Amino acid sequence: MAFRVLTVFAAALSLVSCRGGEETPPPAPTPKVEIAPILDREDAVDTHSYAKPLEARVYHVALDLDVDFQSQRVKGTATLAIDAKPDATEIVLDDRGLEIEKVTDAKGAPLDFAIGEVDESLGAPLTVKIGKARKIVVHYTSAENASALQFLTPQQTAGKKHPFLFSQGQAIENRSWIPTQDSPGIRQSWEARIRVPNPLVAVMSAPKAGDKIPDGDSHTIYRFKMDKSVPPYLIALAVGNLEFRPLGLRTGVWAEPETLPKAAAELADTEKMVTAAEDLFGPYLWDRYDMLVLPPSFPFGGMENPTLTFLTPTFIAGDKSLVSLIAHELAHSWSGNLATNATWSDFWLNEGMTVWAEQRIIEKVYGKEQYDQKVQLSLDDMKSEIDGLEKPGDSALALDLKGRHPDDGFTGVPYDKGAAFLRTLEAAVGRDKFDAFMKGWFERHAFAPVTSGMFIEEVKDKLFANDEEAFEALGIEEWVYKPGIPDNLEPGNTEAFAEVDAAIAAFNEGGAPDAAAWKGWSTDERLRFLGRIEEEQTTERMAALDKALGLTGTGNNEVLFLWLKKVVANRYDPAVPRLEQFLTSQGRRKFVRPLIEALAEDKAWGREIAERVYPKARPLYHPMTTRDLDLLGLLPDAG
Ligand code: BES
Ligand code: ZN
Repeated sequence: MAFRVLTVFAAALSLVSCRGGEETPPPAPTPKVEIAPILDREDAVDTHSYAKPLEARVYHVALDLDVDFQSQRVKGTATLAIDAKPDATEIVLDDRGLEIEKVTDAKGAPLDFAIGEVDESLGAPLTVKIGKARKIVVHYTSAENASALQFLTPQQTAGKKHPFLFSQGQAIENRSWIPTQDSPGIRQSWEARIRVPNPLVAVMSAPKAGDKIPDGDSHTIYRFKMDKSVPPYLIALAVGNLEFRPLGLRTGVWAEPETLPKAAAELADTEKMVTAAEDLFGPYLWDRYDMLVLPPSFPFGGMENPTLTFLTPTFIAGDKSLVSLIAHELAHSWSGNLATNATWSDFWLNEGMTVWAEQRIIEKVYGKEQYDQKVQLSLDDMKSEIDGLEKPGDSALALDLKGRHPDDGFTGVPYDKGAAFLRTLEAAVGRDKFDAFMKGWFERHAFAPVTSGMFIEEVKDKLFANDEEAFEALGIEEWVYKPGIPDNLEPGNTEAFAEVDAAIAAFNEGGAPDAAAWKGWSTDERLRFLGRIEEEQTTERMAALDKALGLTGTGNNEVLFLWLKKVVANRYDPAVPRLEQFLTSQGRRKFVRPLIEALAEDKAWGREIAERVYPKARPLYHPMTTRDLDLLGLLPDAG
């Protein structure tokens, strides 16, 4: 990338001349604008963005937005700082449904722009004729039903009194509310002024920049500034009746006041996790680690928005048994947020590395037994996911997503096969060596994009420098580029669930469920049991399970989910009211999608339930969840 190399080159020269000129005092420092690098290699070409970053790229975004709950839009300006080749006269941004009023240069002179042909998943290119301008101002309103934004009615919140808004950028959703280059390989620093109606509070994935400013007596302006360059999918906003409670020196939690005490209790180990993660992966470079517990519509378990992880309330079990979710989102502060997949094909570099890192944090904070069990659960998930794939090719780590939505690659493969691959590498070279390598990886690629090819090259150079044979023997290319599971998979401690596995065998042979044993089990042990007993059960056996283990009444949502899958698979009527209640009270995609899909497929029993429940539940669900569920034809007017 010639123009970027030039900038770096000029900076290096001035450094040299400062040092060389012993007699002359160094020139006054100019304000440092760090422009993150763009990779110029074949496996870094992002087919999910229209941007041409090697011609012209955005490096800073300044948002000035008004949040309007009536129209369910955000409206205002995005000022973009651009780095471009000297002869570049246009820049291509990503857009999905934005209403653009005008684009100007920094002085307000209008610039021509055009929106190209619309693709259903990618949206459209927004091309601006910048001429010599290197700063532009886009005056716009977010898309109608912007896929990144969910506006909730008061009824859909915990407090039921105030509306709520949150955004979800990953993977390619932010282009529906921010006109920029929406590619994970094009990092941008950013700042924002957000105007919201009183008494609502705005929070974002960045440090606060100054105090809030009253705007008349009906509105307040909140300001944020992210000095570090981040991939634009990590720009996130939430607005609601929010309060904050500190947890430790650099950790804390935001939530509606109704949720805050429970949330804070559940998150009590967070500071310990940050310390453990720093031991493993190097210093935490984002300053604070806060979390935001959202209303139950939030479509994911968690989202690693920098400085402010977004969380589903469904992880709150009352006994901290589901907090590996926090270890996961925290780990993304290194894997994903420092070193970021340059394209969604290499999603495993974000998620597989994060599952590996999450397991290591769990081991450090809670011990080896829990680690061993998490590894076994992840291996089971990997196997069942691969067996259930529609396209067997999707079990490769590096995915071919050209012409497909990045969501198509969002399976358990990048997560669990990715983690299994890294654990296999770790076992092959030994922990000390592997841990040092991973620390180095995060350090070398901090605030920069990475690809599968780069990972393989570095493993070869740094871990197997003098041993080509050992490198070849590991079959790394097969792990990354080929479907299926290579034979050298490191099995982990297969005795990790010995006691539970004995109970599973006894139950599968017709024995009664063991209520006393269940009582003594951890959540992971219960998940192992429910995940591994035979799928098909008679109504009598289902009733016996439910009675002995109290499944329909459980308050642990992961346990409940596995039970409800069994309920649907075995058409167990007594638990249907609970199933309905679960589907209409939270919108976590991982829970609702498989259940509704399974119901819809069962024409003789479940379809009717799905047709009754889905229209009722749908207003609660995020656009990213309804996108595929709508295709099942469960809505009255969809036929
Ligand atoms: N970054 C993901 C969530 C995500 C992935 C959002 C792809 C949109 C597109 C997040 O870190 C994640 O993996 N969440 C998991 C939890 C985790 C413990 C496996 C989830 O939401 O279930
Ligand atoms: Zn993740």
